Amino acid sequence: MDSIISIKGLRKTYKGGYEALKGVDLDIKRGEIFALLGPNGAGKTTLIGAVCGLVRITEGTVTADGHDVVKDFRKAREKIGLVPQELATDMFVKVWDTIEFSRGLFNKTPNKKHLEQVLRDLSLWDKKDNKIAQLSGGMKRRVLIAKALAHEPEILFLDEPTAGVDVELRRDMWEMVRKLRERGVTIILTTHYIEEAEEMADRIGVIDKGQIILVEEKRALMKKLGQTEMKVELKAPLDGMPPELSGWPVTLSDDGLVLTLTMKGEDSEEDASAADFIKKLAAENIDFKTIDMHRSSLEDIFVSLVGKTQ
Ligand SMILES: Nc1ncnc2c1ncn2[C@@H]1O[C@H](COP(=O)(O)OP(=O)(O)O)[C@@H](O)[C@H]1O
Ligand SMILES: [Mg+2]
Repeated sequence: MDSIISIKGLRKTYKGGYEALKGVDLDIKRGEIFALLGPNGAGKTTLIGAVCGLVRITEGTVTADGHDVVKDFRKAREKIGLVPQELATDMFVKVWDTIEFSRGLFNKTPNKKHLEQVLRDLSLWDKKDNKIAQLSGGMKRRVLIAKALAHEPEILFLDEPTAGVDVELRRDMWEMVRKLRERGVTIILTTHYIEEAEEMADRIGVIDKGQIILVEEKRALMKKLGQTEMKVELKAPLDGMPPELSGWPVTLSDDGLVLTLTMKGEDSEEDASAADFIKKLAAENIDFKTIDMHRSSLEDIFVSLVGKTQ
Protein backbone atom coordinates (compact mmCIF):
# COMPACT_ATOMS: atom_id res chain seq x y z
CA MET A 1 0.00 0.00 0.00
CA ASP A 2 1.33 3.41 -0.94
CA SER A 3 0.58 5.38 2.19
CA ILE A 4 1.05 9.12 2.35
CA ILE A 5 0.57 9.33 6.11
CA SER A 6 1.81 6.70 8.48
CA ILE A 7 0.95 6.82 12.18
CA LYS A 8 2.54 4.31 14.52
CA GLY A 9 1.92 3.80 18.21
CA LEU A 10 0.72 7.36 18.68
CA ARG A 11 -0.07 8.39 22.23
CA LYS A 12 -1.04 11.78 23.56
CA THR A 13 -1.33 12.57 27.21
CA TYR A 14 -2.37 16.14 27.91
CA LYS A 15 -0.97 18.11 30.85
CA GLY A 16 -2.95 17.00 33.85
CA GLY A 17 -2.71 13.39 32.73
CA TYR A 18 -5.65 12.94 30.37
CA GLU A 19 -4.79 10.33 27.74
CA ALA A 20 -6.51 11.50 24.57
CA LEU A 21 -4.80 9.03 22.19
CA LYS A 22 -4.02 5.54 23.42
CA GLY A 23 -1.73 4.01 20.82
CA VAL A 24 -3.09 4.84 17.38
CA ASP A 25 -1.83 3.00 14.29
CA LEU A 26 -3.20 4.30 11.03
CA ASP A 27 -2.11 4.55 7.40
CA ILE A 28 -3.70 6.93 4.96
CA LYS A 29 -3.43 5.94 1.31
CA ARG A 30 -2.21 8.38 -1.27
CA GLY A 31 -5.12 9.97 -3.09
CA GLU A 32 -7.96 8.66 -0.96
CA ILE A 33 -10.72 10.41 0.93
CA PHE A 34 -10.57 9.10 4.45
CA ALA A 35 -13.31 9.91 6.94
CA LEU A 36 -12.50 9.70 10.61
CA LEU A 37 -15.70 9.26 12.55
CA GLY A 38 -16.12 9.45 16.25
CA PRO A 39 -18.20 11.01 19.00
CA ASN A 40 -17.19 14.29 20.62
CA GLY A 41 -14.08 13.93 22.71
CA ALA A 42 -12.94 10.77 20.91
CA GLY A 43 -9.60 12.33 19.94
CA LYS A 44 -10.13 13.39 16.31
CA THR A 45 -8.82 16.93 16.67
CA THR A 46 -5.94 15.72 18.82
CA LEU A 47 -4.98 13.21 16.15
CA ILE A 48 -5.02 15.85 13.42
CA GLY A 49 -3.10 18.21 15.67
CA ALA A 50 -0.42 15.59 16.21
CA VAL A 51 0.00 15.08 12.45
CA CYS A 52 0.06 18.82 11.75
CA GLY A 53 2.50 19.68 14.53
CA LEU A 54 0.01 21.57 16.71
CA VAL A 55 -0.09 18.93 19.43
CA ARG A 56 3.12 17.67 20.97
CA ILE A 57 3.35 13.91 20.54
CA THR A 58 3.83 11.99 23.80
CA GLU A 59 4.87 8.72 22.17
CA GLY A 60 4.96 7.18 18.71
CA THR A 61 5.84 8.38 15.21
CA VAL A 62 4.03 10.08 12.38
CA THR A 63 5.32 10.59 8.85
CA ALA A 64 3.77 12.70 6.10
CA ASP A 65 4.96 11.81 2.61
CA GLY A 66 7.99 10.19 4.18
CA HIS A 67 8.91 13.10 6.47
CA ASP A 68 8.82 12.65 10.22
CA VAL A 69 6.42 15.32 11.49
CA VAL A 70 8.62 16.06 14.51
CA LYS A 71 12.20 15.66 13.27
CA ASP A 72 11.49 17.02 9.83
CA PHE A 73 8.66 19.35 10.73
CA ARG A 74 8.99 21.94 7.97
CA LYS A 75 9.15 19.44 5.12
CA ALA A 76 6.23 17.47 6.54
CA ARG A 77 4.13 20.55 7.22
CA GLU A 78 4.66 21.85 3.69
CA LYS A 79 2.78 18.85 2.37
CA ILE A 80 -0.23 19.51 4.57
CA GLY A 81 -3.13 21.91 4.44
CA LEU A 82 -5.27 22.18 7.54
CA VAL A 83 -8.77 23.56 7.82
CA PRO A 84 -9.19 23.80 11.58
CA GLN A 85 -12.35 23.09 13.50
CA GLU A 86 -12.32 26.48 15.21
CA LEU A 87 -13.00 29.64 13.24
CA ALA A 88 -9.92 31.53 14.32
CA THR A 89 -8.35 33.82 11.79
CA ASP A 90 -7.13 37.37 11.54
CA MET A 91 -10.29 39.43 11.15
CA PHE A 92 -8.84 42.76 10.03
CA VAL A 93 -6.89 41.72 6.99
CA LYS A 94 -8.23 41.33 3.49
CA VAL A 95 -9.04 37.92 2.05
CA TRP A 96 -6.40 38.20 -0.66
CA ASP A 97 -3.68 39.30 1.76
CA THR A 98 -4.35 36.50 4.21
CA ILE A 99 -4.07 33.77 1.60
CA GLU A 100 -1.00 35.35 0.04
CA PHE A 101 0.55 35.44 3.50
CA SER A 102 -0.36 31.79 4.14
CA ARG A 103 1.39 30.76 0.95
CA GLY A 104 4.44 32.79 1.92
CA LEU A 105 4.67 30.99 5.26
CA PHE A 106 5.63 27.85 3.40
CA ASN A 107 8.36 29.49 1.35
CA LYS A 108 6.47 28.89 -1.85
CA THR A 109 7.15 31.23 -4.73
CA PRO A 110 4.28 33.66 -5.30
CA ASN A 111 1.64 32.30 -7.65
CA LYS A 112 -1.22 34.71 -8.17
CA LYS A 113 -2.84 32.39 -10.71
CA HIS A 114 -3.11 29.60 -8.19
CA LEU A 115 -4.50 31.87 -5.50
CA GLU A 116 -7.04 33.29 -7.93
CA GLN A 117 -8.13 29.79 -8.87
CA VAL A 118 -8.52 28.81 -5.22
CA LEU A 119 -10.68 31.87 -4.54
CA ARG A 120 -12.76 31.28 -7.65
CA ASP A 121 -13.31 27.61 -6.75
CA LEU A 122 -14.58 28.72 -3.36
CA SER A 123 -16.80 31.51 -4.76
CA LEU A 124 -14.63 34.03 -2.92
CA TRP A 125 -13.13 35.87 -5.86
CA ASP A 126 -15.46 38.87 -5.61
CA LYS A 127 -14.67 39.08 -1.89
CA LYS A 128 -10.92 39.18 -2.31
CA ASP A 129 -10.64 42.82 -1.20
CA ASN A 130 -13.01 42.48 1.74
CA LYS A 131 -11.80 42.35 5.28
CA ILE A 132 -12.50 38.96 6.82
CA ALA A 133 -14.50 40.58 9.62
CA GLN A 134 -17.03 41.77 7.02
CA LEU A 135 -17.82 38.27 5.81
CA SER A 136 -20.58 35.92 6.92
CA GLY A 137 -19.74 32.80 8.94
CA GLY A 138 -19.96 30.59 5.87
CA MET A 139 -17.67 32.89 3.91
CA LYS A 140 -15.16 32.94 6.76
CA ARG A 141 -15.07 29.19 6.62
CA ARG A 142 -14.40 29.35 2.89
CA VAL A 143 -11.48 31.66 3.66
CA LEU A 144 -10.06 29.06 6.04
CA ILE A 145 -10.19 26.52 3.24
CA ALA A 146 -8.55 28.97 0.82
CA LYS A 147 -5.78 29.55 3.36
CA ALA A 148 -5.23 25.82 3.72
CA LEU A 149 -4.95 25.42 -0.06
CA ALA A 150 -2.78 28.47 -0.71
CA HIS A 151 0.51 26.54 -0.65
CA GLU A 152 -0.75 23.68 -2.85
CA PRO A 153 -0.64 20.93 -0.23
CA GLU A 154 -0.79 17.27 -1.22
CA ILE A 155 -2.70 16.38 1.92
CA LEU A 156 -5.73 18.26 3.17
CA PHE A 157 -7.19 17.87 6.64
CA LEU A 158 -10.71 19.11 7.20
CA ASP A 159 -11.66 19.03 10.87
CA GLU A 160 -15.46 18.98 11.11
CA PRO A 161 -15.72 21.05 7.94
CA THR A 162 -19.48 21.22 7.84
CA ALA A 163 -20.38 21.53 11.51
CA GLY A 164 -22.97 24.29 11.64
CA VAL A 165 -22.67 25.36 8.01
CA ASP A 166 -25.57 25.87 5.66
CA VAL A 167 -26.63 23.37 3.04
CA GLU A 168 -25.19 25.38 0.17
CA LEU A 169 -21.73 25.58 1.67
CA ARG A 170 -21.84 21.93 2.54
CA ARG A 171 -22.63 21.06 -1.07
CA ASP A 172 -19.88 23.36 -2.37
CA MET A 173 -17.46 21.84 0.07
CA TRP A 174 -18.25 18.31 -1.05
CA GLU A 175 -17.79 19.33 -4.65
CA MET A 176 -14.50 21.01 -3.87
CA VAL A 177 -13.27 17.92 -2.03
CA ARG A 178 -14.09 15.78 -5.05
CA LYS A 179 -12.26 18.17 -7.38
CA LEU A 180 -9.21 18.14 -5.15
CA ARG A 181 -9.22 14.38 -5.07
CA GLU A 182 -9.32 14.30 -8.86
CA ARG A 183 -6.16 16.38 -8.79
CA GLY A 184 -4.53 13.79 -6.58
CA VAL A 185 -4.89 15.50 -3.20
CA THR A 186 -5.34 13.13 -0.27
CA ILE A 187 -8.18 14.21 1.98
CA ILE A 188 -8.79 13.36 5.59
CA LEU A 189 -11.97 14.68 7.11
CA THR A 190 -13.37 14.27 10.55
CA THR A 191 -17.04 14.47 11.09
CA HIS A 192 -19.83 13.33 13.25
CA TYR A 193 -22.23 13.83 10.37
CA ILE A 194 -22.32 10.29 9.17
CA GLU A 195 -24.07 11.17 5.92
CA GLU A 196 -20.98 13.13 5.00
CA ALA A 197 -18.76 10.10 5.34
CA GLU A 198 -21.33 7.98 3.56
CA GLU A 199 -21.44 10.39 0.64
CA MET A 200 -17.76 11.19 0.33
CA ALA A 201 -15.35 8.69 1.79
CA ASP A 202 -13.41 5.86 0.20
CA ARG A 203 -12.48 4.52 3.60
CA ILE A 204 -13.86 5.01 7.06
CA GLY A 205 -12.05 4.93 10.37
CA VAL A 206 -13.92 4.97 13.64
CA ILE A 207 -12.23 6.39 16.72
CA ASP A 208 -13.62 6.14 20.23
CA LYS A 209 -11.99 7.08 23.52
CA GLY A 210 -8.58 7.60 21.92
CA GLN A 211 -8.49 4.31 20.05
CA ILE A 212 -9.15 3.40 16.45
CA ILE A 213 -11.77 0.70 16.68
CA LEU A 214 -12.25 0.05 12.98
CA VAL A 215 -10.80 0.94 9.58
CA GLU A 216 -12.52 -0.33 6.49
CA GLU A 217 -13.37 0.44 2.89
CA LYS A 218 -16.75 2.14 3.00
CA ARG A 219 -18.34 -0.31 0.59
CA ALA A 220 -17.03 -3.31 2.47
CA LEU A 221 -18.21 -1.84 5.75
CA MET A 222 -21.71 -1.21 4.50
CA LYS A 223 -21.81 -4.67 2.98
CA LYS A 224 -20.52 -6.40 6.08
CA LEU A 225 -22.50 -4.54 8.68
CA GLY A 226 -25.37 -3.19 6.65
CA GLN A 227 -28.74 -4.81 6.46
CA THR A 228 -32.09 -4.12 4.90
CA GLU A 229 -35.43 -4.35 6.60
CA MET A 230 -38.61 -4.74 4.65
CA LYS A 231 -41.79 -3.97 6.55
CA VAL A 232 -44.98 -5.33 5.06
CA GLU A 233 -48.19 -3.85 6.46
CA LEU A 234 -50.98 -6.41 6.19
CA LYS A 235 -54.62 -5.83 5.34
CA ALA A 236 -55.80 -8.11 8.13
CA PRO A 237 -53.96 -9.12 11.28
CA LEU A 238 -52.43 -12.58 11.58
CA ASP A 239 -53.00 -14.58 14.77
CA GLY A 240 -49.42 -15.78 14.74
CA MET A 241 -46.54 -16.49 12.42
CA PRO A 242 -47.83 -18.69 9.60
CA PRO A 243 -45.86 -21.95 9.51
CA GLU A 244 -45.32 -21.41 5.76
CA LEU A 245 -43.07 -18.45 6.59
CA SER A 246 -41.04 -20.28 9.21
CA GLY A 247 -37.97 -20.60 6.98
CA TRP A 248 -37.78 -16.83 6.43
CA PRO A 249 -35.86 -14.30 8.58
CA VAL A 250 -39.12 -12.63 9.46
CA THR A 251 -40.86 -11.36 12.58
CA LEU A 252 -44.49 -10.45 13.24
CA SER A 253 -45.49 -7.35 15.22
CA ASP A 254 -47.52 -7.82 18.42
CA ASP A 255 -50.69 -6.57 16.75
CA GLY A 256 -50.20 -9.10 13.94
CA LEU A 257 -50.29 -6.37 11.31
CA VAL A 258 -46.66 -5.97 10.27
CA LEU A 259 -44.23 -8.56 8.97
CA THR A 260 -40.58 -7.49 9.06
CA LEU A 261 -38.07 -9.28 6.86
CA THR A 262 -34.40 -8.70 7.73
CA MET A 263 -31.85 -9.27 4.99
CA LYS A 264 -28.06 -9.10 5.06
CA GLY A 265 -25.69 -9.10 2.14
CA GLU A 266 -25.31 -7.28 -1.11
CA ASP A 267 -27.99 -5.09 -2.57
CA SER A 268 -28.84 -7.42 -5.45
CA GLU A 269 -29.26 -10.43 -3.17
CA GLU A 270 -31.49 -8.40 -0.88
CA ASP A 271 -33.65 -7.28 -3.77
CA ALA A 272 -33.99 -10.86 -4.92
CA SER A 273 -35.07 -12.21 -1.55
CA ALA A 274 -37.45 -9.27 -1.03
CA ALA A 275 -39.12 -10.10 -4.33
CA ASP A 276 -39.25 -13.80 -3.41
CA PHE A 277 -40.86 -12.93 -0.10
CA ILE A 278 -43.58 -10.86 -1.78
CA LYS A 279 -44.28 -13.76 -4.16
CA LYS A 280 -44.48 -16.08 -1.18
CA LEU A 281 -47.03 -13.83 0.55
CA ALA A 282 -49.13 -13.74 -2.60
CA ALA A 283 -48.94 -17.53 -2.88
CA GLU A 284 -50.13 -17.86 0.72
CA ASN A 285 -52.96 -15.37 0.12
CA ILE A 286 -51.61 -12.94 2.69
CA ASP A 287 -52.81 -9.54 1.45
CA PHE A 288 -50.84 -6.43 2.24
CA LYS A 289 -51.38 -2.67 2.07
CA THR A 290 -47.88 -1.17 2.02
CA ILE A 291 -44.26 -2.21 1.76
CA ASP A 292 -41.46 -0.16 3.27
CA MET A 293 -37.78 -0.87 2.66
CA HIS A 294 -35.11 0.53 4.96
CA ARG A 295 -31.49 -0.06 4.03
CA SER A 296 -29.26 0.54 7.04
CA SER A 297 -27.13 3.62 6.73
CA LEU A 298 -23.65 4.20 7.95
CA GLU A 299 -25.34 5.98 10.84
CA ASP A 300 -27.06 2.79 11.97
CA ILE A 301 -23.73 0.97 11.73
CA PHE A 302 -21.93 3.70 13.63
CA VAL A 303 -24.50 3.74 16.41
CA SER A 304 -24.19 -0.01 16.72
CA LEU A 305 -20.39 0.34 17.05
CA VAL A 306 -20.07 3.34 19.31
CA GLY A 307 -23.52 3.43 20.87
CA LYS A 308 -24.15 7.11 20.17
CA THR A 309 -23.54 9.73 17.53
CA GLN A 310 -22.69 12.73 19.68
N1 LIG B 1 -5.51 21.08 25.51
C1 LIG B 1 -6.12 20.08 26.14
N2 LIG B 1 -5.86 19.81 27.46
C2 LIG B 1 -6.46 18.80 28.09
N3 LIG B 1 -7.35 17.95 27.53
C3 LIG B 1 -7.67 18.17 26.23
C4 LIG B 1 -7.07 19.24 25.47
N4 LIG B 1 -7.57 19.18 24.22
C5 LIG B 1 -8.44 18.14 24.19
N5 LIG B 1 -8.49 17.53 25.41
C6 LIG B 1 -9.30 16.35 25.74
O1 LIG B 1 -8.93 15.28 24.92
C7 LIG B 1 -10.05 14.55 24.49
C8 LIG B 1 -10.11 14.50 22.99
O2 LIG B 1 -10.38 15.79 22.48
P1 LIG B 1 -10.48 16.10 20.93
O3 LIG B 1 -9.28 15.56 20.27
O4 LIG B 1 -10.76 17.55 20.78
O5 LIG B 1 -11.75 15.23 20.52
P2 LIG B 1 -12.71 15.32 19.23
O6 LIG B 1 -12.05 16.21 18.24
O7 LIG B 1 -12.85 13.91 18.76
O8 LIG B 1 -14.01 15.86 19.71
C9 LIG B 1 -11.27 15.23 25.11
O9 LIG B 1 -11.63 14.54 26.28
C10 LIG B 1 -10.77 16.61 25.42
O10 LIG B 1 -11.44 17.14 26.54
MG1 LIG C 1 -12.70 17.92 17.32
